[in-house]
Amino acid sequence: MNLKTGAFAVLVLATLPCSAVDHKVCVECHGEDGVATSSGFPNLAGQHADYLLKQLRDFRGGQRSSPFMNIVADKLKEEELETIAAWFAALPAARSSMRPAASAGRALYTRTGAGGSCASCHGDAGEGGAHVPALRGQQMFYLREQLLNWRAGQRNNSPGRIMNQVADPLSDADIDTLARYLSGM
Ligand code: HEC
Ligand code: HEC
Repeated sequence: MNLKTGAFAVLVLATLPCSAVDHKVCVECHGEDGVATSSGFPNLAGQHADYLLKQLRDFRGGQRSSPFMNIVADKLKEEELETIAAWFAALPAARSSMRPAASAGRALYTRTGAGGSCASCHGDAGEGGAHVPALRGQQMFYLREQLLNWRAGQRNNSPGRIMNQVADPLSDADIDTLARYLSGM
């Protein structure tokens, strides 16, 4: 993340009473329309509310670690988490899903691995559902970083560690190819 922005936002958050934390704090990085302001930050627009809510609870409980998001989520009350998750989920996704073209990315996305292919869980067009995140049109650097984190075991919050098993056999080149393919979907 942009360290200057992050440090500034932490400062702002630290001075806010809990109840003043709402989506206005979030849009600095996740965008007014839920489309992130940098490729390292995730888009939240059109992401599934169940998934967003689980991530916010995981950040709050420490099951998912991100120095910044752990502080943000800790400031939010349970009702606020629900309101904010619903608010972002209702915004239109960054891009409407295109018909996926044949490509190296498509081949990796549909190849059977641990737990099935990526497409079998995340949907043929990367649309996801409920607790399975949509990946279509997600920011490329963010996707890349998450796949590296799953592979390195730095992110561990998927049910039964399924995403760690999925990412384990992927090479750096596979991860780059997948991130490029998904962000362009
Ligand atoms: C200073 C920038 C910044 C601000 C402000 C910020 N976030 Fe984040 N957010 C991030 C980054 C960076 C990540 C990715 C963390 C990681 O690497 O796991 C993230 C991740 C998330 C995720 C997980 C998305 C996914 O696809 O898994 C959610 C949900 C989220 N933020 C919600 C919020 C909410 C709600 C707020 C406001 C209350 C907020 N964020 C404020 C930078 C920010
Ligand atoms: C058996 C089902 C399953 C399979 C197969 C699977 N995923 Fe996932 N994936 C999930 C679930 C569930 C999550 C959400 C985990 C959580 O709660 O944090 C997830 C999370 C992710 C995320 C994090 C998204 C975000 O917004 O932070 C990425 C990226 C991802 N998967 C990519 C892939 C790729 C690429 C493949 C194929 C190589 C794949 N997944 C295969 C179920 C699956």
